[in-house]
Amino acid sequence: MSRKQIHLAAFMNAGPQGTVGWRHPEAGDGFLTAEHYLHIARVLEDAKFDMAFVPDALAVPRSLGGSFEPAVRYGTGTPRLDPMTVITLMSSVTTRLGVAATMSTGYQEPYNLARSMGTLDHLSGGRAGWNVVTSFQDAEAQNFNQDKLPDREDRYARAEEFLEVTTRLWDSWSDDALIRDKESGRFARPEEVEAIDHKGRFFQVQGPLGVPRPPQGYPVIVQAGASPTGRDFASRWADVVFCSHESLESAIDFYRDMKERAAAHGRDPEQLKILPAATTVVGADYRDELAKHEEFFELVDPEAGLSRLAYHVNVDLTQYDLDGPLPSLEVVGVEGHYREVVEFAEREKLSIREIGRWYGARTEGNMIGSAADIADTMEQWIDAGAADGFMIQATHVPAAFEDFATQVVPELQRRGLFRTEYEGETLRENLGLNRPERGEWRNRAKSVAVTHGATA
Ligand SMILES: Cc1cc2nc3c(=O)[nH]c(=O)nc-3n(C[C@H](O)[C@H](O)[C@H](O)COP(=O)(O)O)c2cc1C
Repeated sequence: MSRKQIHLAAFMNAGPQGTVGWRHPEAGDGFLTAEHYLHIARVLEDAKFDMAFVPDALAVPRSLGGSFEPAVRYGTGTPRLDPMTVITLMSSVTTRLGVAATMSTGYQEPYNLARSMGTLDHLSGGRAGWNVVTSFQDAEAQNFNQDKLPDREDRYARAEEFLEVTTRLWDSWSDDALIRDKESGRFARPEEVEAIDHKGRFFQVQGPLGVPRPPQGYPVIVQAGASPTGRDFASRWADVVFCSHESLESAIDFYRDMKERAAAHGRDPEQLKILPAATTVVGADYRDELAKHEEFFELVDPEAGLSRLAYHVNVDLTQYDLDGPLPSLEVVGVEGHYREVVEFAEREKLSIREIGRWYGARTEGNMIGSAADIADTMEQWIDAGAADGFMIQATHVPAAFEDFATQVVPELQRRGLFRTEYEGETLRENLGLNRPERGEWRNRAKSVAVTHGATA
């Protein structure tokens, strides 16, 4: 029987690689140059990665005391270049690598998003992906006419309608609407192009989209919701779910839960790929690498860590006694990260300040050691039913991606766990995902909007 294949994505900031990653002795500083991203694109494609993935947020974090200063001082979540521009650039020097950008349903309009993702899907030959986020900081809301972030239910309600409108816009042209018949002078078939006439709680969109149906039908949809509402949303809409876990057990629980939810929505669970984060540190042996890794984390300033944590949970921690325990918080921000922090802090009995120190250095899903050690862990996770692949997080760029590509990938290939050639041309084909038929949105949407036109 052939082995289950691992899928690989690379988590790549369009900026410095994290609060501490930019200080790594081997970190490059080219993140404001095109060459930096072009180089990473080539490294990933040579190694046959499924995709490069760019996270994003729409503000310089104001995490401590309402000030942006700590974020700027330590390089926490800033600067961030526009991810769509970066992935377009990366797609231009590659032919098979998928490229995914994070865009917020809170602060975009479906028409704009459907258009830019549809455009990139055409220009890249079907390699575009969209990481759907609902945003998690008040500082983002404050750049878009709001005082604070709407609560989670409202954010997901908007995301729900956003996805419905966006997918309907992609469906507004049939796959064979374009004819371009010079002889007859008929460019396209109007009967194959339809308005969507959507009127809902958040959006009013007439359509059709000014871009023909994307080569992938819908660009690949990525999501990272961890709350129950987020999981429900992801299990209906997402093709790929990105997550992070403190233990193999919690990864198995999450994997099982998401596959069951997908099945309950009438989907084939195989069509939802779960990629936990893996921060890989590759070297000759575990002990050497661990020592190097710990040395590097000594560089973390506790305030930088607190700034990072406060930014992720969207709570100003300076209002509490920093030498006391973390009180139970009403987290508007990233609940997944908060839960992991609580689990760890309770176990280790840490004060807020100590949590800050740990969190600044914290990398997700650490896999440290030789290429064989890392391949063993990956194999264990795949066999245990915890993952369909991994989102590789680099401690520093571009070197950590190069190390993974040149050392771990050949080991995975040798074991028959990872491709030596791309299977297909589009990102969907390489991920083993079906191409959605026109009208697929009906199967994914929770409820249909108030009024519908006669569209597919
Ligand atoms: C591993 C991971 C990575 C994430 N990356 C981003 C990101 O780049 N940008 C963003 O706005 N949100 C990001 N998020 C936040 C989620 O997309 C989601 O909006 C957030 O977790 C709130 O939903 P939840 O309460 O369902 O978890 C990430 C979350 C996790 C767990």
